[in-house]
Amino acid sequence: MSKEKSKTRAAKAAKAPAADGAGIDIGISKSDREAIASGLSRLLADEYTLYLKTHNFHWNVTGPMFNTLHLMFEGQYTEAALAVDLVAERIRALGFPAPGTYSQYAKLSSIEEDESVPPALDMVKKLVKGHEACARTARSVFPLAEKASDEPTADLLTQRLQLHEKTAWMLRSLLE
Ligand SMILES: [Fe+2]
Repeated sequence: MSKEKSKTRAAKAAKAPAADGAGIDIGISKSDREAIASGLSRLLADEYTLYLKTHNFHWNVTGPMFNTLHLMFEGQYTEAALAVDLVAERIRALGFPAPGTYSQYAKLSSIEEDESVPPALDMVKKLVKGHEACARTARSVFPLAEKASDEPTADLLTQRLQLHEKTAWMLRSLLE
């Protein structure tokens, strides 16, 4: 390769910073990709906070419903562990960094952490609230994805909405 060519290649490489999503041409404007990625980051923070809450409750639940809740929570946190990966990787595909620290999640999440271990039925109530919060956040991002014809994000949001609304119903049914 000539010196000139390798210089051009080096200049091109230097001009392709990925951190702010520049240089990506998938048919969605940078500002739309940025708005969707920022909405998905809020969803990721909610999903991760709810994942940890569910795992915490799986470990610490006590009482006559121990077996039922311990196993139910296990199914729920296992699903959530896979879901956070899909949300984070969609943010990356849109060209932006996915938040991945507890301090970022604390700032971005709409779900509060628990300072102490609640009684079993309060755990169920808190998880209902958590799933409802995730549904609200996912729903709030939907118009941004639709406006930009971002079908992969809309599809992901639809799946999260179905899951959170169904899980909230199942948990709620334990309280009736
Ligand atoms: Fe376990």
